[in-house]
Amino acid sequence: MDIKQLMKELTTEEKIGQLLQLAPFHFIKDIEMEVAGHVSPLSLNQDKIFLAGSVLGIGHASEMISVQEKYLKKSRHKIPLMFMADIIHGYETIFPVPLALSCTWHESLIEKVARISAVEAQTAGIHVTFSPMADLVRDPRWGRVVESFGEDPYLQKVFARAMVNGYQNNDISKVGHVAACVKHFAAYGLSEAGRDYNTVDLSRSSLQNNFLSGYQAAIEAGAKMIMTAFNVIDGVPATINKYLLRDVLRKQWHFDGVTISDYDSLHQVIDHGCAENDEQAALKGIEAGLDIEMASTCYINHLTKHVKHDPTIEILLNQAVERVLILKKDLGLFDNPYKGADVKQEKCIVRAIEHLEFAQKVAEESVVLLKNDQTLPIENKKIALIGPYATSKETNGPWSWHGNNDFNLSLEEAFIKAGSEIIYVNPSHDPKTYDEHDCLMLRQADVIVAAVGETTKQSGEAHSRSQIELPFGQEKLITFAKTLGQKVVTVLYNGRPLILENIQTSDAIVETWFTGSMGNQAIVDILTGKVNPSGKLTMSFPRNVGQIPIYYNHLNTGRPKIEGIDNEFVSYYLDVSNQSLYPFGYGLSYSTFDYKNLRLSATRMTETETITASIDIINKSDRGGYEIIQLYLRDYVAGISRPVMELKGFKKVWIKAFSKETITFDITKDMLGYKDENGMDIYEQGRFKLMIGKHAEAVISMDFDFIKE
Ligand code: BGC
Repeated sequence: MDIKQLMKELTTEEKIGQLLQLAPFHFIKDIEMEVAGHVSPLSLNQDKIFLAGSVLGIGHASEMISVQEKYLKKSRHKIPLMFMADIIHGYETIFPVPLALSCTWHESLIEKVARISAVEAQTAGIHVTFSPMADLVRDPRWGRVVESFGEDPYLQKVFARAMVNGYQNNDISKVGHVAACVKHFAAYGLSEAGRDYNTVDLSRSSLQNNFLSGYQAAIEAGAKMIMTAFNVIDGVPATINKYLLRDVLRKQWHFDGVTISDYDSLHQVIDHGCAENDEQAALKGIEAGLDIEMASTCYINHLTKHVKHDPTIEILLNQAVERVLILKKDLGLFDNPYKGADVKQEKCIVRAIEHLEFAQKVAEESVVLLKNDQTLPIENKKIALIGPYATSKETNGPWSWHGNNDFNLSLEEAFIKAGSEIIYVNPSHDPKTYDEHDCLMLRQADVIVAAVGETTKQSGEAHSRSQIELPFGQEKLITFAKTLGQKVVTVLYNGRPLILENIQTSDAIVETWFTGSMGNQAIVDILTGKVNPSGKLTMSFPRNVGQIPIYYNHLNTGRPKIEGIDNEFVSYYLDVSNQSLYPFGYGLSYSTFDYKNLRLSATRMTETETITASIDIINKSDRGGYEIIQLYLRDYVAGISRPVMELKGFKKVWIKAFSKETITFDITKDMLGYKDENGMDIYEQGRFKLMIGKHAEAVISMDFDFIKE
């Protein structure tokens, strides 16, 4: 397809249509009926609907095929619709939620999650996924932390890149490959007070040094699209923000792909108070560099007027449309508008056995063991199961539209399948409902497993919480279980770090998040010791809500608190420590690892040199296990205040029982810089602190000097 030629043949209205994205219900049912329903609020008539360039969300192959067929029949130039959807952590084979995925610290595993998701999703004719979400997060009240890779810029970078590689697999023209749309540009994760869609206010320096890394890495990995965020940046909605969409994206990062608004976010600039009406919003959108408008109609209804009045707008329109058409061409849609959609293939590819087996492995690596007072693993013990997640199958979690929880096993079913001895099951979370007989049964167990947590609807978009303890009074269930005198293992199902101070009476605490289609099989294998847990946290767990935002890579302040030293006039709270309950990078194993003998190949490096840090990791236990060894750096003195520590590398290594591994990290110049307000890399000579450890609060350190010659 000759895109330049096609552009010449399109009318202004047809071009603008390419920038409109609509939900499929506008096309599939009888359109006359739909007009009265969903379409009229968008002020769209049939003609405009059939100018649209892309579709948001689709059920299955048959739906996609019928929408595309109907569309192409009416389309003058037969430009195929492009189908986009939220394939966030799996299509029908559901993998752990992204926050859980990040706890695997396993780049290639995450890449394969995206690969399988793409292969499955493409059978429904999905061409673009609205993933990865690269929003760095620091506030667990925000419901969307469940979709994030956590609080660290380096991990955002590594995992966003892995997902793009997995989805696109270097060539989006092939069947089974989908284009990635990284989102939500930018800094949506900083929604004030953790309330969704709220204001974001941050410095350019922090934006550049902390919040952009994931989006940038996705673009560098070749992501074809980027979605704007709902929030403002510097008071300007991200959707019409020229600094973000032109200066950062196009000039700084040289992005030549397609930008898209979030759902209705171009229209929402009116509510932000930055446009009087849709007509003004349309102008601001196209001027800022917004290409596709999702689910609102500012462009389709108003852009023509602007184009007529101002030739520069026509140039901008042409650029945007050309980008969209090039993407369609790159996806191979002009050659095959139904690419991938295949009802027969769908049946054998989706939820294929090897996909499910892999989902179980990923789930195993996502689980984080938070506490274990010689209670786990439970081997050959009589088990009593209590709490709502004892019998619930809801392990898919938010953003798993195509998944079906009914296919999953409950914890009870998974235990039984594994041959465990379950002597009592009660899904009630309320201790008052447990009578004498229940207590008698519970006392006969060796271990009580309390399976508790949040419902799927308590995290995710528009699901923020101001109190983040265990909901529905489930803490009381654990206190009650402890009064019976048995060992209590608390198994948590949730989409965010929770406040866990009040369940510390538990003998063991296992954070499972929402682990997807095979979640409970994986959890049972960990609880019973078949699998050694290895996940580590990517978001700090606060002790109380008052500590939020809490993150490990904070600045030092001018009056830092030094633990163990009493001084009133330093940065601290009267009523709670500065430290989190469970820090970034934390997670236990059934093995015991010691870190010893940190050494550096030199304590001085120049710009062209690399030095190597080595450390011995000793597994003192009789079980082999994975350990995630973390490398942090601190730049003591720089032009701007730098964090007390920043993750710069990690290695996930299997260490055999009673053995030692020497782990090395190369320290290179690119680890030592920071960004100025314009995103330029700055390298300053001086002393650095190198830290290696099992988590952010358990490190061994050495200093070295960086010399610029
Ligand atoms: C969400 C996006 C999502 C889009 C399309 C919006 O409400 O913020 O993350 O991709 O809807 O479903």
